[in-house]
This record gives sequence, C-alpha cells and structure tokens, in this order.
Amino acid sequence: MNLIENLEWRYATKKFNPSKKVSLENLEQIKKAIQLSASSYGLQLYKVIILDNKELREKLKSVSYGQNQITEASHLIVFCNYSVVTENHIDEYFVLKSQTEQVNILDLKGYSDFIKADVRNKSQIEKDKWTSNQTYLALGNLLNACAELKIDACPMEGFETKEYNKILNLDKQGLNASVIATIGYRSDDDSSQNTKKVRKSTNNLFA
Ligand SMILES: Cc1cc2nc3c(=O)[nH]c(=O)nc-3n(C[C@H](O)[C@H](O)[C@H](O)COP(=O)(O)O)c2cc1C
Repeated sequence: MNLIENLEWRYATKKFNPSKKVSLENLEQIKKAIQLSASSYGLQLYKVIILDNKELREKLKSVSYGQNQITEASHLIVFCNYSVVTENHIDEYFVLKSQTEQVNILDLKGYSDFIKADVRNKSQIEKDKWTSNQTYLALGNLLNACAELKIDACPMEGFETKEYNKILNLDKQGLNASVIATIGYRSDDDSSQNTKKVRKSTNNLFA
C-alpha cells in the first residue's frame, strides 16, 4: 500500500469496535512514528499520554462532549504541549545532542544561547501556540502510521482543555492538553466509513 492509498483508506472514525484492541507491537510502531516527528529546533516540547483505562476515559468522555470514541476506541492518545518552557528544556536537548552526535557541549553553546534568546522573546501566548503546533505534527505522523498499520483513528479537538488538564494533573507538570486522538478498529456499522472524502480540488487548494 502506498501513501496515497493509505490516506484514502483512513477516515475520522466515529464508531469503534470496543472489543478490538491495538496490539503492544503496533503501539510501539505508532510511538516510534511519533518519536521521529519533526519539531521546532528538535526540542520536542511535548509529552504524549497513552490511555486505555476505562474509568479514566469515562471521566474524560464527560468533558469531550460525550463523544463515544473516547471510551469505545482501543486507546486514547493525549498530546500535551509544555505551556511552561524553561531553559532546562533547552539544556536537556543540548546534553542529548552532544551525547548523540559525540560533539563537545561547549561547541554548541552559541546555538543554545540563540535558541534561549528566541524563546525568551516569545510571549506566553506565542510559546503556547508554538509548542502546541509541534503536537499537530506528531498527530499527523500518528494518523499516517495508523493508516499504514490498518489501524483506525480519529483526530479530535472536541474536548475541554482545562478539564483534561485537571483530570490528568497536567497543570502541575507545566503541560497542557493540546489535541487528542483515539485509535482502534472501526465498527462494521460505522456509516462514516462509506462516505466519500470531501476535499477541495487541487486546483482550488493550490495557488
Ligand atoms: C484537529 C482536528 C480536530 C478534529 N476534531 C474532531 C472531533 O472532536 N470529533 C470528531 O469526530 N472528528 C474530529 N475531527 C475529524 C475531522 O472532522 C475530519 O478529519 C475531517 O472532516 C475530514 O474527514 P476524514 O478525516 O474522514 O477524511 C478532527 C480533525 C482534526 C484534524
């Protein structure tokens, strides 16, 4: 299957088969695809929480406009951006970079100072937007990886961020629920799987 066929196959699944679980092996593949996502400066300023606990998902469903995918899917993935960005985040990245690339960390100081200055210059709103943007790239990779593995998924913004932050204790960690996805296997009677893709023509989409 090639990329375009995968993209035609996938759809935002509305009704999952609650008895079909994504295997640990496939979950690892999806995690790897998320881990390999591009991010601004490579900082990966987010955490990804994978939930399958039913009780917790029931609670989250009540603050997700009652959307059934939250509890009927195999797993709920919560992409959380760091709303508090510290110099520590940047230092951690450069320690990892120097170890991975076998470069003296002192040789990276100029670049590190440049990024720190750039981050310092951002307002809180800009920082939130910036780190949240990165989670959408990871979400895109999740959708593509799932499509290749023939795992159904639904990207979702229909949830109350503040409530997610409270229920998942994200505030205390400087995190914020940015976007979520449910993954699993479609129910045979999910009528959405039969509807045609609604997309602008390429002529219209590209200038
Ligand atoms: C960022 C984002 C948020 C979305 N939020 C929801 C949601 O809360 N609930 C839902 O059922 N679908 C949600 N969708 C699915 C879109 O409605 C769907 O992707 C779009 O209509 C295109 O259809 P397709 O994905 O089936 O091709 C969301 C999609 C994206 C990309």
